[in-house]
Amino acid sequence: MNDPNGLVYFKGLYHVFYQHHPFSAEWGPMHWGHLTSEDMVHWRHHPIALAPGDDWDRDGCFSGSAVEHDGKMYLIYTGHHWLGDTLDDTQIYQVQCLAVSEDGFTFEKKGIIVKPPADYTHFRDPKVWYEDKRWWMVCGARDSKDQGQLLLHSTDDIEDWDDGTFTIVAKSEDKNVYMWECPDVFPLGGKHVIAFSPQGKIADGYSYRNVFQAGTVVGDWSVSELFKTTTGFREMDLGHDFYAPQSFVTPEGRRIIIGWLSMWEGNMPTKKHNWSGQLSIPREVFLDPETETVRCVPIRELVKIRQGHISVPAQLIKSDTQITLLDECVSCEVNLVWTLNNCTGEKYGLWVGKGLEIFVDNQTARLVVNRHYPEHTISGYRSCPLPTCTHLKLTIFFDKSSVEVFVNDGHAVMSSRIYPAAGDRALSAFSINGDAHLAQCEIYGLAKSVLV
Ligand code: FRU
Repeated sequence: MNDPNGLVYFKGLYHVFYQHHPFSAEWGPMHWGHLTSEDMVHWRHHPIALAPGDDWDRDGCFSGSAVEHDGKMYLIYTGHHWLGDTLDDTQIYQVQCLAVSEDGFTFEKKGIIVKPPADYTHFRDPKVWYEDKRWWMVCGARDSKDQGQLLLHSTDDIEDWDDGTFTIVAKSEDKNVYMWECPDVFPLGGKHVIAFSPQGKIADGYSYRNVFQAGTVVGDWSVSELFKTTTGFREMDLGHDFYAPQSFVTPEGRRIIIGWLSMWEGNMPTKKHNWSGQLSIPREVFLDPETETVRCVPIRELVKIRQGHISVPAQLIKSDTQITLLDECVSCEVNLVWTLNNCTGEKYGLWVGKGLEIFVDNQTARLVVNRHYPEHTISGYRSCPLPTCTHLKLTIFFDKSSVEVFVNDGHAVMSSRIYPAAGDRALSAFSINGDAHLAQCEIYGLAKSVLV
C-alpha cells in the first residue's frame, strides 16, 4: 500500500481508503483498499472499493479524496493510463474521475469529470472540499517546463466540472522541483494551509533529507483571489518515512491528518513477509499563531488502547550508564520528560536494541532519530532543533516496524520505519559523557489487535 486516500466521516463511520496493490507486495495497478472505524483507533477491513480497468482508469485508480454530499459519498480520484510501456512515466495520461456511493461500501463509477489542461500530462491526486458555497478541487501537476504546481478547479455541481477554467494556485519557486503530488488545501487558525509532497528538492543541511518530502506553506486565500503565502515550505514530519498525507475534518471540527509511513525508492524489508507500507497514526493539526507553523499531536482517542502501565521513577542517569526500561519494545507508548537544563551528557536518550537511538545531541542542540540496520542497507539519521525551554517532552509510539516521535506537544514530529532483529528490542535510557536527568517516564502497552 501507499498513500491514504478518501479520508471522510460518513454516516457515523470514519472511512480511510488507500492506494493498494492486492496481488503482491510490489507497487502495481492501483486499487483503493478500504477501512472503517468508529473511533479512529479500531479499524475494520472491507472489500476493495475501486479497481482499475475501465476506459478512464485502465492502468490504475490513483490517489484522491472523498466528500459527503446529499447523503451520498463521492470519491474523486485519478484515472491513470500508460500510453507507452508500463512504468514509462514520459508517456502518460491522467484524468480526474468520480465514483458515488449511497452506503459508503459499494461504489458506482461515473467516469471522467476533469481532463488535463493543455501543457500538463502529470496531473493527479484531486483533493475536493466545499468552501464558500462552492466545490473546489486542487490537483498536483507538472508543466512542460517541469515545474511542480497546483491547479485549482471549482464548480457548484459536484458531478459537473468545467475543465477549461482553472487557476495555478501555487507553483514551485525551486527550479529542481518538478512535481507536486498529493495536495491538500484547508482553513486552519484563520489562515489557509496548502499541503503537498514535492519531488526533486535537494537536501539542504538538516532539511529535505528524504528522497521526497511532505510539507506545508501557510497563507491567505479567499475564493476570488490567488493564494498569498506568508511562510515558506516547511516539512510536516522530520523522520525518515512520511509522505502523501491527507486531511479531513471530524464531526466536531478537528482537522486530522494521516500520512504514508514509507518512502519511495527505499528498501522495504517487510516485503519478505508479503506486505509493504503502513499508515501513520491519525494526528490532530493546529496552527501555531506566532510562527504560522502547522503543528500536530496524536489524536486523543489513542489513550483507549493503553493496556498495562509502567511508571519509571524520576532519576539521574549517571554518565556512561544505561538503565533498561523494557525488555521488548513492540507495541507501546512511551511518554518521557528530560530536564534539559540539568543535563550535562553530550549524548543522552533512548536505545531500542542495537539499531535505533532517539537522543539529544547536546552540542548541536538537536533531537536525533538514528537508525542503523545494515543487514537491510538502511541507515542514517534525521533530527530537529531542541525546543527552547527547560523540558523536553517526548510522546513516542512504537509499533513492530515503526516509531512516531512527537516532541513537546507539537514542536516537531519524526516518523521512521524500524527493523530490529528478533530479540533485539530492549528499550533503555542512557547518557554519555555527562549525566542526564529523566524527570518523568510513563510506559503504556498498546492493545495488540486494533484491527478487526
Ligand atoms: C504518491 C503517488 C501519487 C499517485 C499514487 C500512485 O505517492 O505517486 O501521486 O496518485 O502515489 O500510487
